[in-house]
Amino acid sequence: MLWGSRFNKKIDDEALSFSSSLSFDIRLYKHDIRVSKAHADMLLSIGILSSEENIKIQTGLQKVQSEIENSTWLPDPNEFEDIHSAIEKRLTDIIGETAGKLHTGRSRNDQVATGVRLWMKESLIDLRSKSIDLQKSLIQLAEKHINTIIPGYTHLQRAQPISLAFHLLAYVEMLERTKNRLAHVFNEANVSPLGSGALAGSTLPLNREKTSNDLGFAFPSNNALDSVSDRDYIVDFLNVCVIGMMNLSRLSEELIIWSTKEWNFIRMGDEYSTGSSLMPQKKNPDIAELIRGKTGRVYGNYNSLITTVKSLPLSYNRDLQEDKEPLFDSYDTFSGSLKMMKGIIGTISINENRFVDELDGDFSLATDLADWLVMKNIPFRKSHEIVGQVVKLAESQNKKLNELSLEELKSIDQIFDESAKEVFLIETALLRKSTFGSPNPVMVSSQLKLWKEKL
Ligand code: ARG
Repeated sequence: MLWGSRFNKKIDDEALSFSSSLSFDIRLYKHDIRVSKAHADMLLSIGILSSEENIKIQTGLQKVQSEIENSTWLPDPNEFEDIHSAIEKRLTDIIGETAGKLHTGRSRNDQVATGVRLWMKESLIDLRSKSIDLQKSLIQLAEKHINTIIPGYTHLQRAQPISLAFHLLAYVEMLERTKNRLAHVFNEANVSPLGSGALAGSTLPLNREKTSNDLGFAFPSNNALDSVSDRDYIVDFLNVCVIGMMNLSRLSEELIIWSTKEWNFIRMGDEYSTGSSLMPQKKNPDIAELIRGKTGRVYGNYNSLITTVKSLPLSYNRDLQEDKEPLFDSYDTFSGSLKMMKGIIGTISINENRFVDELDGDFSLATDLADWLVMKNIPFRKSHEIVGQVVKLAESQNKKLNELSLEELKSIDQIFDESAKEVFLIETALLRKSTFGSPNPVMVSSQLKLWKEKL
């Protein structure tokens, strides 16, 4: 027991299992041991531990770590409050009384905050590398589809033709912003709370600079009270997961729509599809659906933590233990979803000529006709109106734009000539785009080249 002598009775069994975080914070064991080792080295450097005692502690902690790794000792959640107390108890069993010196000048409050920050830094690096992997697979697919025409939408109404490559590159941009957010959170997490004690530091001459350096942090935190109660960096982390999942969910939704019979544009790989137990013909996009579905949980995790923290007076309150399940769950879900999405993108097949005929002369080229009029010196508002009449005429005759004769065009405005009809050609529609950031295949190719250099 960590606080033994002040109490007459031991904690109620059910109260212990209600309050234990061991079942989920066991995944911090390695980080906790790293923190303890750095702390012990520091205690040696200020003369609180002899080198003999430190060696005992270091080898004892190493032993606990390998016992957990080899499952030869696994702490029981009915016995311990958390992984931190379990490890200390095990160390005591292994090395005896010397273990009692390890917790000098330390509280679990700064200990847990330091361990979580170490865990988070690793997790941020993992999310970054999984984001890059997904970017690469999107780029690989995009390279083959610079000229694959699809309808672009606004309001889910057909708007203007674009290419599949251009569409995929939009997601590459989103992932880049996710990486920027991850980098921001890395800086926030990269501060060492160790040596803050329970809330107000220590009367012992702890060398916080040393533990911060040894653990690879940028610097020790400035204010002990803040350090043990700060969960902003976790909220930031959860927010990266929220936005990341939001974007993956949009991509999932699009892939699901594209794989319908109605769109008939992509086929999901068998590796990421499932069948129906009833309908033999079905091939369902379950993995994409689950990415979309799990997004809700990740939103919930964010809400859960901001709600937990909002009314807590400084500094540490046990409520803060509730930070871990949302944190681990959001990380697992986002990391898994990035990986699954990479798999999906790598295995879809594309019906690349699906829209060529359908979009040739389609109403989605109407804006290009308005631009043609602008080049004839017609004010845009006026040309918008003229093209509106062209569309109306075509619609009333159930024709596409390229099925209208020059006479019919001229009946709306004399300015039309043969060259106007060139804008109805879908093959050249993308090439006619001239602005930076447009789906022009030349520009998309140079974007792809830049991304490949960058990644
Ligand atoms: N398991 C606790 C947590 O995760 C560790 C800190 C406990 N501190 C305390 N004063 N009871 O927050």
